[in-house]
Amino acid sequence: MAERGARLTLVDLEKTYGTFTALRRTNLQIEPGEFFSLIGPSGSGKTTLLGAVAGFSPASRGRIEIDGTDISSMPPFMRNIGMVFQNYALFPHMSVFENVAFPLKLRKLPAAEVKQRTQAMLATVRLPDVGHRMPSQLSGGQQQRIALARAAVYSPRMLLMDEPLGALDKNLREEMQFEIKAFHRKVDATVLYVTHDQDEAAAMSDRLAIMNGGEIVQHGTPRDLYEHPRNAFVACFLGSANLIDVTAKPQASGGQSLHVPIKGGALKALDTMSGTATAANSVVCIRPESIRIETGTPAVSEDDNTLEGRILDAVYTAGMFRYQVETDQGAVMTVRLPSVRQSDMLPMSARVSLIWPAAATLLINKE
Ligand SMILES: Nc1ncnc2c1ncn2[C@@H]1O[C@H](COP(=O)(O)OP(=O)(O)OP(=O)(O)O)[C@@H](O)[C@H]1O
Ligand SMILES: [Mg+2]
Repeated sequence: MAERGARLTLVDLEKTYGTFTALRRTNLQIEPGEFFSLIGPSGSGKTTLLGAVAGFSPASRGRIEIDGTDISSMPPFMRNIGMVFQNYALFPHMSVFENVAFPLKLRKLPAAEVKQRTQAMLATVRLPDVGHRMPSQLSGGQQQRIALARAAVYSPRMLLMDEPLGALDKNLREEMQFEIKAFHRKVDATVLYVTHDQDEAAAMSDRLAIMNGGEIVQHGTPRDLYEHPRNAFVACFLGSANLIDVTAKPQASGGQSLHVPIKGGALKALDTMSGTATAANSVVCIRPESIRIETGTPAVSEDDNTLEGRILDAVYTAGMFRYQVETDQGAVMTVRLPSVRQSDMLPMSARVSLIWPAAATLLINKE
């Protein structure tokens, strides 16, 4: 059993390639034993950040600290950090046992200990009986479990994983997400995990960071980021979001208030959220699952916002109806609701009301 995971601290970390900045000045602290994910579009700097921590591709500026000790100038093998890649990277000419034992032999541990720890790690990834096989005689998911075992066998206190499930199909990915979580609880290392897949990150992580253009745009718990996105990029990257432009409305007092026209007046709760927001820098965000959809004359409470429109598109996927509704104001809104709450899918062109509570209305930055 490993001792508790390490604390990782990035201080003003930056990575440039010639004149191109792949990682902008980054400050971040990941706590001992935490499962922390980096997500973001292709080219946003996730692998660059991981490579700097691992030491494969040293940072240009700033420091990396493990439990307060600066490791920035240490060679990779001295950093005591385990690494798992997308393409397993098992040694094809070595048996599974030899693959997992490799880091221990490299560290010149006694043969009896190598054998005992390798067997224990194979058991941890629930493949105790495949040691004699070659990697090519395992399935993709099994190979990835062996890659995990090899990365963790010498009990590093920090594990880095770069899209470890990227090569697997959807069902196997989901199964492996549980495997990796269970594995994390057993080995008790700090995990820094990279994925493209926001659902995967949300399901697995204590906290996550969203990267764009070489910088972390926002970090926090999956729920924080989903319910309080800093800007439109974060809102749209994590699930889908309805964004509505706001306009400025002059007030009698001389100032301006933010305004979004809706049925029977203006969007509620906007004035209490405004703060320093302006019509130029802000946008209203409503999550598709916050909205209910009704036909006829709906029962609407004091705090509800309502928009009327007609159905442009209706699809059924995995227990949910997803509607696109064009509002009378000309916006297209997405609504998602469980099919058990509605007997039949509403037909195209049907007149509907979209209703959501004021509390589900977010005012966020455009950028
Ligand atoms: N050796 C290099 N020389 C020059 N530019 C590089 C080098 N390695 C990466 N880059 C650039 O740095 C940026 C960030 O790359 P990085 O690999 O970190 O992205 P990523 O977020 O991991 O993307 P993906 O999701 O596609 O793996 C990209 O624009 C990439 O082209
Ligand atoms: Mg990458």
